[in-house]
Amino acid sequence: MTMNILVTGCAGFIGSHVARRLCQEGHQVLGLDNLNGYYAIDLKLARLDLLMENPRFQFRKQDIADTQAMRKLFDEHRFDRVVHLAAQAGVRYSIDNPHVYVDSNLQGFVNILEGCRRSVVGHLLYASSSSVYGISRALPLREDAPTIPVSLYAVSKRANEMMAHSYAHLFGQPATGLRLFTVYGPWGRPDMAPFKFTQAMLEGWPIDLYNGGNLSRDFTYIDDVVEGIVQLLNCIPCFGPKSGARDNDVPHATYNIGFGTPSSLAELIGCIESATGASAIRHRKRMQPGDVYDTWADVSALEARTGFRPKTPLPQGIDSFVQWYRTFYRA
Ligand SMILES: NC(=O)c1ccc[n+]([C@@H]2O[C@H](COP(=O)([O-])OP(=O)(O)OC[C@H]3O[C@@H](n4cnc5c(N)ncnc54)[C@H](O)[C@@H]3O)[C@@H](O)[C@H]2O)c1
Repeated sequence: MTMNILVTGCAGFIGSHVARRLCQEGHQVLGLDNLNGYYAIDLKLARLDLLMENPRFQFRKQDIADTQAMRKLFDEHRFDRVVHLAAQAGVRYSIDNPHVYVDSNLQGFVNILEGCRRSVVGHLLYASSSSVYGISRALPLREDAPTIPVSLYAVSKRANEMMAHSYAHLFGQPATGLRLFTVYGPWGRPDMAPFKFTQAMLEGWPIDLYNGGNLSRDFTYIDDVVEGIVQLLNCIPCFGPKSGARDNDVPHATYNIGFGTPSSLAELIGCIESATGASAIRHRKRMQPGDVYDTWADVSALEARTGFRPKTPLPQGIDSFVQWYRTFYRA
């Protein structure tokens, strides 16, 4: 069935991939983004150019924190689904720039929730983050593990889950929170380790290894994340114990989307060295405030609900990323 879908953050890394896939599936996609300067706008514009080639895609430059403009958007359109990926991302940036997280991630999120409930959107899917688990040591992390967020970014994502839960409870607005684990791949974010390390190695610069490199992440390839989101689009959480969701007293669910196996930073660097043929110059640094030591997703809830689990191993995903990087930056 063809649907009208709003994708926020469509010029971003994950949003651009999701919007492209939804257009390919035959849906009409309205993409929204404020094209902010958190990282190179050229990269956002290049992603957007690619999207604009598809006649099923329309772009609207708008800030989700602008309450009036968001109200107008939902008055003008009827969306069957909203995939909300716009946010101020980044753990470290939130330490020095707290207000932008409040504007985009809290104010912006209320505007999305209000728009969805007023115009009766069939299903809201929104990006949460593995960072909500924070310093929880219950590895691998299940959706019902304690959440102990340690940065304002993580707090804003946990707050989104609680806000969505309350809208599901109060107004019956169906919503699914996507706890995404360190996503990487072609068109990836320049502030994240796979991108930064690749750039540094190809340029011959040193790379910073926080906590001396003694960290691990459940690196998740972009195509697997997109597949997980597409699979969940029509898994609408409903009341009652048969919804398959773990918090099923209201039509709200949260799912981990992660590869399901953590890799150390040393393994990540090894993959990039093989893919680029360059060697890393390592600078060991102390642990960054707000960061966590390890992430590791339990993806059994996602698999039980959709039959899908992420499958791209790190070396294969990094090869694809490096290939894209070399082509895009002529490196
Ligand atoms: N990439 C990851 O590893 C990862 C992990 C966990 C969660 N997430 C979440 O997934 C979502 C997408 O992440 P991403 O990696 O694609 O990040 P991204 O920064 O590449 O994309 C976010 C997009 O949203 C836009 N945006 C930001 N604030 C906005 C606002 N106020 N109004 C309109 N547009 C705005 C930005 O311009 C950007 O294009 C985010 O919510 C992020 O927090 C990402």
